[in-house]
Amino acid sequence: MNKLIIKNATELVTCKGNAPNHGSAPKKGTEMSDVGIIKNGAVVIEDGIIVAVGATNEILSKFDEKNYEVIDAANKAVLPGFVDSHTHLIFGGYRADEFSWRLRGDTYMSIMERGGGITNSVRATREESLENLVEIGRKRLHKMMQFGVTTVEGKSGYGLDMDTEIKQLEAMKILDAEEPIDIVSTFLGPHSVLPEYKGKEDEFLDFMINNVMPVVKERNLAEFADIFCEKNVFTVDQSRRFLKAAKDMGFKLKIHADEIVQLGGAELAAELGAVSADHLLQASDKGIQDMAKAGVICSLLPITAFSLKEEYARGRYMIDNNCAVALATDLNPGSCFSNSIPLLIAVSAIQMKLSIEEIITALTINAAAAVNRADSIGSIEVGKKADIIILEYPSIHFLPYHVGVNIVETVIKNGKIVKL
Ligand code: NIG
Ligand code: FE
Repeated sequence: MNKLIIKNATELVTCKGNAPNHGSAPKKGTEMSDVGIIKNGAVVIEDGIIVAVGATNEILSKFDEKNYEVIDAANKAVLPGFVDSHTHLIFGGYRADEFSWRLRGDTYMSIMERGGGITNSVRATREESLENLVEIGRKRLHKMMQFGVTTVEGKSGYGLDMDTEIKQLEAMKILDAEEPIDIVSTFLGPHSVLPEYKGKEDEFLDFMINNVMPVVKERNLAEFADIFCEKNVFTVDQSRRFLKAAKDMGFKLKIHADEIVQLGGAELAAELGAVSADHLLQASDKGIQDMAKAGVICSLLPITAFSLKEEYARGRYMIDNNCAVALATDLNPGSCFSNSIPLLIAVSAIQMKLSIEEIITALTINAAAAVNRADSIGSIEVGKKADIIILEYPSIHFLPYHVGVNIVETVIKNGKIVKL
């Protein structure tokens, strides 16, 4: 049996709340400030599962260290592994040229309207074999793990046809089985409208709903469905139709909402009971209040706003209005070619004015809830998976303070050390 004790952690950051269901529900509003720190804490792990959590002296009086592998975390902080709950990690090709055009003043949407953007990545992704996509994805997953990410969400959406959508999802299934990191997959068939479908968006949605979606379901290739609800992409009505069909087929829902233009994607997410609405840079006051009431997680992707030179989503206002906020990287080849958790933390703290406690909640238990895994990951609690990270420094306050630097020293996935 694989047995491990982590002891003497200066800060053991459990991310457990006080309410009875906090181990399996996202935290809203002021609850996000409670990260449940145990000073001089210890965790006992057996066969990949957390079996005890508490003060080191109490734990060591009940469990004999001699029977365990021991990690001494003196002068270190110990946290749940981070969950990156919104990425597009499987794609072929790159769009560095578009980034340089944006630096010179072009906008993301103007490049898309000229036939660039997602269309370019679709072309490149269609050309890659399944094997190549798996190897490209593997490298990206390894980089994510270096930053302490132990679960990641990944989307299709660079195929926009049957074969390539399925190929992307298959690549994620293979990687989920082969790599220590867990992958939660999302079917994002309606990610963009190719030139041949301009003006025929409804026809394209019919194809996605009637042809591709049933195959994804049958082969159990995705748990979530998602759509890019945006001006000049898919309208609110089209998004409602697609997401309702997905819900009827048994998918949980996500939506790329109110990113560039305020269309009402946030309101739609609340109406349909989506698990999360993502981006939300332009979400209206009403949309935010609707999401708080409906329990939709606001998934904010500030590195995308940073890369696009857009205003950040109103994270502070959302938390102050009792929303549950999650933070994710949005790694993708276009709007945000970054999987950097340190950059995400820096921007969230310095620019969006979130506290480090709120940021940690947003990257752990709330992100776990955003991928429907809050019952098994996202906090250090008895019965949960031992997905745990150890920082090089004694306090969570070093995360924003050591600006943009990775201070994750050790990553433990399912009770096993994967990075030293
Ligand atoms: O989440 N906004 C739509 N989709 C992605 C960008 C995809 C791309 O540009 O390749 C996003 O930002
Ligand atoms: Fe995205």
